[in-house]
Amino acid sequence: MKKFFYLMIISGLQGILVSCGGANAKSSNQNTVYPKEVDSIDLKVNALLARMTLEEKIGQMNQYNGFWDVTGPVPSEGDAAHKYEHLKKGLVGSMLNVKGVKEVREVQKIAVEETRLGIPLIIGFDVIHGYKTISPIPLAEAASWDLEAIKLSAQVAAEEAAASGINWTFAPMVDISRDARWGRVMEGAGEDPYLATLIAVARVQGFQGDDLSLANTIAACAKHFVGYGFAEAGKDYNTVDVGTLTLYNVLLPPFKAAKEAGVRTFMNAFNELNGIPATGSTFLQRDILKGEWGFDGFMVTDWGSINEMIAHRYAENRRQAAEFAINAGADMDMESYAFVNELASLVKDGCVDESLIDDAVKRILRVKYELGLFDDPYKYLNETVEKEVIGSKRIQDAVLDMAKKSIVLLKNENNILPLKKNGQKIALIGALANDKTSPLGSWRIAADDETAISVLEGMQAYTGNTLIYEKGADVVTGETLFPKELTLNISDKSGFSAAVTAAENADVVVMVLGEHGLNSGEGRSRSEIGLTGVQQELLETVYKANKNIVLVLNNGRPLTIEWADEHIPAIVEGWHLGTQSGHAIAQVLYGDYNPSGKLPMTFPKNVGQVPIYYNHKSTGRPLDPGQGEVFWSHYTDVSNAPLYPFGYGLSYTSFGYSDLKVEVVSNDKVTVSVKLTNTGDVKGKEVAQLYLRDEFASVTRPVRELKGFELVELNPKESKIITFTLSHAELGFYDNNGKYIVEPGTFSVFVGGSSDATLTSKFELK
Ligand code: NOJ
Repeated sequence: MKKFFYLMIISGLQGILVSCGGANAKSSNQNTVYPKEVDSIDLKVNALLARMTLEEKIGQMNQYNGFWDVTGPVPSEGDAAHKYEHLKKGLVGSMLNVKGVKEVREVQKIAVEETRLGIPLIIGFDVIHGYKTISPIPLAEAASWDLEAIKLSAQVAAEEAAASGINWTFAPMVDISRDARWGRVMEGAGEDPYLATLIAVARVQGFQGDDLSLANTIAACAKHFVGYGFAEAGKDYNTVDVGTLTLYNVLLPPFKAAKEAGVRTFMNAFNELNGIPATGSTFLQRDILKGEWGFDGFMVTDWGSINEMIAHRYAENRRQAAEFAINAGADMDMESYAFVNELASLVKDGCVDESLIDDAVKRILRVKYELGLFDDPYKYLNETVEKEVIGSKRIQDAVLDMAKKSIVLLKNENNILPLKKNGQKIALIGALANDKTSPLGSWRIAADDETAISVLEGMQAYTGNTLIYEKGADVVTGETLFPKELTLNISDKSGFSAAVTAAENADVVVMVLGEHGLNSGEGRSRSEIGLTGVQQELLETVYKANKNIVLVLNNGRPLTIEWADEHIPAIVEGWHLGTQSGHAIAQVLYGDYNPSGKLPMTFPKNVGQVPIYYNHKSTGRPLDPGQGEVFWSHYTDVSNAPLYPFGYGLSYTSFGYSDLKVEVVSNDKVTVSVKLTNTGDVKGKEVAQLYLRDEFASVTRPVRELKGFELVELNPKESKIITFTLSHAELGFYDNNGKYIVEPGTFSVFVGGSSDATLTSKFELK
């Protein structure tokens, strides 16, 4: 009898476990940290929450893509069929991809005027690098190392988006990546956590400003939490497996800084991290973000990522996936249809505690209050403002300025650049030179095709020379990414001979080559990262006719251009620079703007070196023992050195570093000063960089790490003493328990204009 009783209990428990997570049940400490302190918004939120039914609460946690035309037919298939009906019933808290004052008003009106409680929607959009007027891709902006300019770029993007009815951007992407094969490196700030952290803060401040309730600021979103940029082999959405040291010292810092800068939302990630899909990770979302860091905004899932936990083979079905996601700390479901369909029954069956729903809803309502949407849900919706702001001269000027600051001069032999302004015959070659869409880059969904200034147009603005344009060869565009079309596209060399003739008759040849704007971005990982199609062959063919070539790269990632580096006298990294791209590039080529960009990501010599990054570890066999020795950490067919290191970039002038002085003021304050001199003949800007090496530590540390930089403008022969201060935040590291520590011992500093700086000194911390 007793035995039977136990069996009943066990089978009863199993029954509950099967409906609540089953064999794969994931634990949650249900760490509900909100609200921490009571303010007037909390009172309003609590009052509203008290009036909401469970279904209405869950509705706030539901985000739909605005695919349908509310004035036209309502879709009738699958889950999508219920979207319109859900909106009317107050079962939608947010929409994305609805844009323009007219369209946003249509959906907002339904939420506000037709639902029982009239709670406004929060309208989200991927405002990644500009809205309609496009600024450089984020990786390019990072190359400016100009935090004020980056902040301004985010600010004007917010202003344009807000004028179009958007309340919330899914940016900045603060994922660190060391793998140029990953298509989304274009969307981040590169490989370095220190630089990326400062840029994350600048972007959050730019989007959100000081007051979220103003009609020209929008909520930002730090994404993708976390590890997405470490996809194995650079293949998008791939598995991520990283250790504690990398997680805490490399991946988390930009997110933590974004949180500290007040970012109002986070987005989780498609990837699994060490065996747990990020969307279902209690460790990341509840323990670290909402627990340890005390984040009081909300966490939106990435698109469909709740459902993807099934494909990860982690959740057995949508119900279980919804349960894992809410318990792990996701607050809003983007397009999985999981929360709206599953949460109510999960609560009723006791699988999800309603307090977690309340917590999520409070977070979401709070941000809506902060945006001022409850005061006036139509405040962002003014057609006159929309017309005035979008594409305004002020915004065009800001994106042009940002574009110039993003350009990196990689090589300039015999001072072939800047170009002379008169009396020259210039051949301009390459399909990308005459492309008005590619410079917009990836992730620019509100911008119209054909709206960028091409390099051809930019150069035509200079009328003192004779300019001849030849395409030479097509590039592979975003629409022709698949193997079949690739084969078709790469074989056409019929334009080569006209390009050669143009080059033969020119004093200087400018070739614009690289990859189309849609060759990078989400889902656009590449296994080879050279010039696409037959562009390499075109370059080598034209080189035979005229060696006086300036190569302008257009690309969303580091490219393998070893041949070009060996043969071509001048190389300009022109990325995808946005709406004003052609003007920015032409002004740099003609010397009206002296380039000062520095690479935020290492350029490999070949794809086999990837992942390659400057802040690597030493290994037990770091040095070449010489005399053909085999057994040290290297390749037998390529050196360990990159083509261009992190932090590298030239100018039309030159700079010298001297008088390095280090002073240990206290155990957590060290000052480092250096004299920077403009040793050339023209005014120019330099990014002076400081790198630190902790010589010996309780865990192995990188060979060097960026810990300070300053962007300085100097007249010819002018000098400036630059002083860096290293304190607690720069001197320590996270250990294997995720604990930040500063250890005594010897440190080396390196100061210079790139990560291979050689001016060095040492100091001791007691
Ligand atoms: C998926 C992307 O990963 C994410 O970054 C983006 O914000 C959403 N789609 C919405 O477009």
